[in-house]
Amino acid sequence: MPQFVETLLQTLGPDVVTPGADVPVQYHADWAGLDPVRPLALIRPRNTDEVATALRLCNDAEVAVVPQGGLTGISGAAHPAPGGVVLSLERLNRIERLDASAGIMICGAGVVLEQAQAAAAAADMLLAIDIGARGSCQLGGLIATNAGGHNVLRYGMTRDQVLGLQVVLADGTVLDDMNTLVKNNAGLDLRQLFIGSEGLLGVVTTCVLRLHPATPARETALIACSSTSDAIHILARARRDLGPMLSAFEVMWDSFHATMAARCDVPMPLGTDHPLLLILEATGSRTELVRASFEGLLEACYEEGLIRDAVLAASGREEADIWAVRETPAEYSTVLGPVIPFDIGLPTDRMAEAVEAIETALRAGWPDVHALSYGHIGDNNLHLVVNVPSAGTDQPEAEVKAAVYGLVRDMGGTISAEHGIGRIKRDYLHYSRNPVQIALMQRLKDSLDPKGILNPGAGFAGLAKPGDRAA
Ligand code: LAC
Ligand code: ZN
Repeated sequence: MPQFVETLLQTLGPDVVTPGADVPVQYHADWAGLDPVRPLALIRPRNTDEVATALRLCNDAEVAVVPQGGLTGISGAAHPAPGGVVLSLERLNRIERLDASAGIMICGAGVVLEQAQAAAAAADMLLAIDIGARGSCQLGGLIATNAGGHNVLRYGMTRDQVLGLQVVLADGTVLDDMNTLVKNNAGLDLRQLFIGSEGLLGVVTTCVLRLHPATPARETALIACSSTSDAIHILARARRDLGPMLSAFEVMWDSFHATMAARCDVPMPLGTDHPLLLILEATGSRTELVRASFEGLLEACYEEGLIRDAVLAASGREEADIWAVRETPAEYSTVLGPVIPFDIGLPTDRMAEAVEAIETALRAGWPDVHALSYGHIGDNNLHLVVNVPSAGTDQPEAEVKAAVYGLVRDMGGTISAEHGIGRIKRDYLHYSRNPVQIALMQRLKDSLDPKGILNPGAGFAGLAKPGDRAA
């Protein structure tokens, strides 16, 4: 056993440290589909002090550390670094405090999102973070990646739900920034450095989350329409007519809904014979109010010729049926084989043009391509998933990425709207960030983690700096 693992074991004990040979395979990879890597050791601290001890030891010995949560990220930010340890926050899974009148909840980084949502709901409050992986993703990972999801349109990203953090820095220093105040302009807002940093600047151990009042009234509709521009018109009208009640607006082009419906056993209340399907959701406190506004909106859209067909959910079961095809992305690898996923952002007024241009470019290059488009259009966020059946396990990843990211860059978009850079988008970071931005990120990294132990190989860590010369 390597000497360093002996040291970890002696200091933290066998309950916390598992040597590499015994680390279960689930810690060898996240959902990005990269080749599994057996870590040097798995560390599962039971409290912040143990996280601090682990980081101090790793920093002294210059051993790489990859923080892990629920491992549901699909950009590879939680994938083990060769020769390094993984630090799982899963045991910091306590909801420490929930104060409905103050609108806050304090949780360990390892709390699973669905548990946090349920605790908030039990107190008649809403934790406004929701993503498909809610049953296994953990709060620390959601914060480290600034996760998006279905409610961003109304409540913003994870960043907007975090009031305070406790973070352990690379050298083991504990930063207590457990702010509970909505407004606090006393100096720099340090928490923002760590939210969305993909574990490159520190390890989140505890968080103060903001809660909103519960929204017991909910209306959900599945809407069929003819074109992307009609969908964008419906969105504009929904924003105007529903105001803050508009809580989700999801778009699925037929490339996505028809392909996934054909492969997964899911109900399709309006069939698959429509160029686009939208999921529209409004929530609020009073049923009559939400329903009247929602039905008024749908009628107006019908009259304007924006809607081909629509169905309103009359029960929880019908709501689930409407969402079913939208929740199939977890099945990609089973039903499509290896996929090249994209999480791009585009200006709303170029969305229609972009979807068309990207699908056309891909079909020109790979005639049998499956290019599935869907996403959170209200947040400028388009998900695109590509699989070239004739390429089997050897997907033309570099060429497909170059084609898609080139178009995204030229249209003023971003290579990552919500999934982060991780290990799979590093080569394209400069398509979306300029040299001064990247250099500043690296100066922050050098200052907070001078030995570069935190998540090397992810995000902007260790990328060539502007002005670096080739060796
Ligand atoms: C989704 C994930 C992939 O929206 O972000 O389905
Ligand atoms: Zn998404």
